[in-house]
Amino acid sequence: MNKAKRAAIIAGNWKMNKTPKEATELITAMKPLVKDADCKVVLCVPFVDIDAALKASEGSNIEIGAENCHFETSGAFTGEISPVMLKEMGVKYVIIGHSERRQYFAETDVTVNKRLTAALKEGLKVILCVGELLEQREQGITEELVRMQTKIALGGVSKEDAKNVIIAYEPVWAIGTGKTATSDQAQEVCKIIRNCVAEIYDNDVAEGMTIQYGGSMNAKNADELLSKVDVDGGLIGGASLKAEDFSIIVKAASK
Ligand code: 13P
Repeated sequence: MNKAKRAAIIAGNWKMNKTPKEATELITAMKPLVKDADCKVVLCVPFVDIDAALKASEGSNIEIGAENCHFETSGAFTGEISPVMLKEMGVKYVIIGHSERRQYFAETDVTVNKRLTAALKEGLKVILCVGELLEQREQGITEELVRMQTKIALGGVSKEDAKNVIIAYEPVWAIGTGKTATSDQAQEVCKIIRNCVAEIYDNDVAEGMTIQYGGSMNAKNADELLSKVDVDGGLIGGASLKAEDFSIIVKAASK
């Protein structure tokens, strides 16, 4: 596989953090620190922060994403946001299937597939999250599980649309725990995912797809994780809330 064939992407996932005012402050601080990045820089922010984030990032190399979206365009879905709404605001990316959505909000592989398909239809780029629980790793089913998550999520997605999908391998046991996967573990599973994408489509799609690692990636371990041939970037939670730390990860991906 040739890493040069695909874009490195460092994406922040702010989760349920930052008010619009705080979003403006954080992005204003980040802008000068990441301006020379030789990778894509994306910030996925809470829905209510999108407007402020778009304004604060104007004219910079920071692109804005959302953290979820519904699978319908409009209708009686109280509390939900549709891809068409995000698109009209100027959002470029959306995270789909984050383990916190799966764990706390009854997201399933099937609804992940529906959301992903709807987002792609609107021309959004999707960051699809897959990853195993600690128990599943201990049972030795990581490979089966991430392959199943990947296959179901991409069900019915054309080869052309698959080019707008980024996959983030996020072992659930490494999220917010400070317990990072080793770079070998990250590489092994990112490679499994890439092989799975090659099986679904072909080598070209697989080689062109950006596959990120996420789970306690930080300013200290980013270099090592990103040095792996199948790790094309990161999906960053906690460390994306600090301008300095996030910019160090962006620099690590720019080497
Ligand atoms: P942390 O970087 O806080 O572990 O979160 C990772 C994550 O869930 C990104 O989507």
